[in-house]
Amino acid sequence: MCGIIGIVASSNVSGQLLESLQRLEYRGYDSAGIATLSNGELDRRRAKGKLQALIDVVSTSPLEGQVGIGHTRWATHGAPSAINAHPHLSGRVAVVHNGIIENYVALKADLMASGHVFESDTDTEVVAHMIEAALASGAAPLEALKSTLDRLEGAYALAVIVEGENDLVMGARRGSPLVVGYGDGEMFIGSDALAVGPFTNRITYLEEGDYVAINRESARIFDAEGNSVERAKHTVASSAVLVEKGNYRHFMEKEIHEQPDSSQHTLARYIDPVAGSPSEHILDFTGISRLQVVACGTAYYAGLVGKYLIEDIAGIPVDIEIASEFRYRNPVMDPGTLTVAISQSGETADTLAALRWCKERGLRTAAIVNAHQSTMAREADIVLGTYAGPEICVLSTKAFTAQIVVLISLAIAGARQRGRIDVATERRYVRELLEAPRLIAQTLSIERQIANLAQDLMRSCDMLFLGRGVMYPMAMEGALKLKESSYIHAEGCAAGEMKHGPISLIDDVTPVVVLAPSDELFDKTMSNLREVIARSGPVTMITDAEGAARAPSEVRVIIVPTGPKLINALIYAVPLQLIAYHIGVCKGTDVDQPRNLAKSVTVE
Ligand code: M6R
Repeated sequence: MCGIIGIVASSNVSGQLLESLQRLEYRGYDSAGIATLSNGELDRRRAKGKLQALIDVVSTSPLEGQVGIGHTRWATHGAPSAINAHPHLSGRVAVVHNGIIENYVALKADLMASGHVFESDTDTEVVAHMIEAALASGAAPLEALKSTLDRLEGAYALAVIVEGENDLVMGARRGSPLVVGYGDGEMFIGSDALAVGPFTNRITYLEEGDYVAINRESARIFDAEGNSVERAKHTVASSAVLVEKGNYRHFMEKEIHEQPDSSQHTLARYIDPVAGSPSEHILDFTGISRLQVVACGTAYYAGLVGKYLIEDIAGIPVDIEIASEFRYRNPVMDPGTLTVAISQSGETADTLAALRWCKERGLRTAAIVNAHQSTMAREADIVLGTYAGPEICVLSTKAFTAQIVVLISLAIAGARQRGRIDVATERRYVRELLEAPRLIAQTLSIERQIANLAQDLMRSCDMLFLGRGVMYPMAMEGALKLKESSYIHAEGCAAGEMKHGPISLIDDVTPVVVLAPSDELFDKTMSNLREVIARSGPVTMITDAEGAARAPSEVRVIIVPTGPKLINALIYAVPLQLIAYHIGVCKGTDVDQPRNLAKSVTVE
């Protein structure tokens, strides 16, 4: 839930550390800090708040040194403050950490009993003190690291520097990701490929339990038992360009506009347009009697859309559960169940734990994942990648639609393999799915209208989103997006459920957004919409041309392209994302990095 970087170079590293932290800020942004070995001595700068605060500190008080570590934080233990910001120091040691040390209270008590004095409220500080204690008792740096790791419980990715060690950064991972980056005469460790992306695209993904020592020329990697090991080097696609905002004001805006491409790239992997069918490799449904989807947040809503479509088209039962709930009860699973984890980052702690829970019980697992080198991608039996490219905005947009593209492809493949549809129907579905990039692009052209709508809605305290069928999970996704982008309280409801409670929220100042494609549920949704109008609720209806022609005169109508029902979730995602984006911008919130959130939630 934090971002870490470590660099050994031949010139001052503070600029590189800050550049890397800019790439990592999506992982946490309530404080940041860097430490270097300057003339062989430890020195650090820290600041509460966004990275810019640290950049300002470093510009007034520069930090020299060719070996350094950096951190951008999402607070778990200890309030967001400069004193709790990493790096944490003890004697000769400086440490940055992503994860949670679960047994830190007991470790801290031991250390305090032997005279160690702590300055922060964090769990991380114990790591610095433990390594320092081991060094003080004569251990070499790597031994000190290893003996410390052996006593830690919980999750960590660590980067460590030691005073007097001018050609060394040490790292370790368990439960949180860490990569090694290979430069020319300089070496890196970082939370992910983006962290080291400005400097190299030659990368090793450390495995669970690994620890590493880098110097200017090389990396020595050890497994959890301390054996020296070789790990594969990968050349990752140069993503430097992809993580710039270009001409857009925000990553959120850019990523919303990238959806014609991201859906196309994902489609290209799963659909064979010539054959008119899903690609052969997508998934063999033999022996699969049920899918169990686990996911969090927006990925969960994608899964819910998938449930509606897969059950409808393929007739395969799909259960779906929020990963943080799934793992703490005793779900009844049968051997024919394929667990499908859905995750942009592939690192979400709860989703990963749910996937592991299923693996441990001998169930087959699949991951629909955007970060192809993530832990989920490496641990799942089957990887169904989304090809949305790096998603930097904390709010998920293009990854969401790419996940739905994969789920629709699975629905078609499952239906065909199980003999539920004939070749002609399969071809029709494929043709319809192939329309998605074009129709998403066409939908983006309503942005000006949505920007105007946002001006009117921005002062609301609450908003409701309503939909039926697939539009129900879309309503919940619309509400989540709005909460994140604007801090407006919002709820997504099944339109038919309104009368069972949420209707009491309706008044003349609570805007209601109704998602109403002109399908077989349209008339039912209109009845619910009229219930809102009857209670003076101000309604915006998002619909297609046919729906607009039948809309009550009291409602404001936003018209989206008429698409096949199969891909309506992809079309209606766009106005929902644009509403959240423009209301957030009108209100002046930081839509790319809203308060209290982080992109990659690697803690429970
Ligand atoms: O990386 P994941 O897809 O596993 O993340 C899951 C959620 O944390 C994520 O979708 C979150 O809800 C987003 N901020 C939504 O915009």
